[in-house]
Amino acid sequence: MRLTVLGTGYLGATHAACMAELGHEVLGVDVDAAKLAKLQAGEVPFYEPGLEEIVQRNLSAGRLRFTSSYQEAADFADVHFLAVGTPQKRGEYAADLTHVDSVIDSLAPLISKPTVIFGKSTVPVGTAERLGALVRERSPARVHVEVAWNPEFLREGYAVRDTLMPDRIVIGVGSATSDRVERAAREVYASQLAEDCPFMVTDLATAELVKVSANAFLATKISFINAIAEVCEAAGADVRLLAEAIGYDDRIGKKFLKAGIGFGGGCLPKDIRAFMARAGELGADEALTFLREVDNINVRRRTKTVEIVRQMCGSILGTRVAVLGAAFKPDSDDVRDSPALNIAGQLQLQGAAVAVYDPKAIENSKRIFPTLDYQASIDDACRNADVVLVLTEWEEFTTVDPGHLMDVVRTPRIIDGRNCLDQQRWMDVGWTYRGLGISI
Ligand code: UGA
Repeated sequence: MRLTVLGTGYLGATHAACMAELGHEVLGVDVDAAKLAKLQAGEVPFYEPGLEEIVQRNLSAGRLRFTSSYQEAADFADVHFLAVGTPQKRGEYAADLTHVDSVIDSLAPLISKPTVIFGKSTVPVGTAERLGALVRERSPARVHVEVAWNPEFLREGYAVRDTLMPDRIVIGVGSATSDRVERAAREVYASQLAEDCPFMVTDLATAELVKVSANAFLATKISFINAIAEVCEAAGADVRLLAEAIGYDDRIGKKFLKAGIGFGGGCLPKDIRAFMARAGELGADEALTFLREVDNINVRRRTKTVEIVRQMCGSILGTRVAVLGAAFKPDSDDVRDSPALNIAGQLQLQGAAVAVYDPKAIENSKRIFPTLDYQASIDDACRNADVVLVLTEWEEFTTVDPGHLMDVVRTPRIIDGRNCLDQQRWMDVGWTYRGLGISI
């Protein structure tokens, strides 16, 4: 099957490569010439385990190509996936749909055959219907173009696996949609359907809401356990044991109950804000006021971590702080709304000397926070430190030898911002250990 993927950022590049891996002929389309040149040369412009091999394999096999030409895209296929970013608007909660609209503006006038556009981007409910009307207005008369919605649920760090073996496939279709949309979706995802992947066809609004509701639920789960962590700190309890104990109830489950410095990244924070903004526009703002608290709890974890540094070291001004981790999660070089980088920045603004090491995210961090002192290894970052903060749970940090690091730092104080270290191992060799939601 021939298809295009419009937008070759994180989501689009992954989707394009994985669709080619399934055997389709795929054209990736973008307006960023530098990004296209890299991808066409087999280089992925961000870090995602396993993706580069898939891109290279499918480029060599001739199943994957990249272009900046919308004319080529319109001629190449009659099934298109829209996968551009929907960031938070500057100074507002709402999502910025400029990229989504501009893809439709560019493609629609060039379409000359019956076509289906599947939206994959995370959008405010109502967008698909609006884009459907826009497409019909812009495309040549008598050509039938349908907009459907096929939300994406991939996680960074597991993007390849989540795309090739999704938990579920959801297709939102318009009320006047023909069977053609469902047929096209079944053909695209034939190999996943053969593996019994759940497949749901819904209306457009439900499909759009499935995506933001899933992210809102995940964010709520994290903030729930972080709120309980605050109570554990006050009451002298241990949130790690508490989370394990409640997680044995399979109605609650153990996943996404890891207390720490909270969630970040390009999705959960901006998606809950855009969801609140959209609910407000729809007159249902009261329904989602709890998400404001989810956001507040999340941001409070960052200031709490800064406070722990002050408590442990007596003062922040003049303290030498080693920050291990800048990415918003391990196996990613993404620093968008990263709690780790935010904490490092807050500490520096309050007068600490902050050295940062991350295995993959330093280049991206430098663009956002150029004034931090970036180092090339754990040892370099920790040299003569008064306190070490582990803020992203990279395996390199969870397996580091605390005995060796004792000789590198000035004072052996460790703050485990992700509750990912073996506390006893660190304390046994003489470190003063502090986790989040764990009272010592
Ligand atoms: C999230 C969702 O998990 C995906 O299903 C969704 O497709 C994606 O957003 C998206 O909308 O594109 P992702 O942003 O890659 O995926 O990251 P998550 O694995 O959800 O982690 C988000 C943040 O929560 C990270 O900062 C992580 O460290 C934090 N987290 C996660 C916790 O603090 N505690 C936990 O128990 C789990």
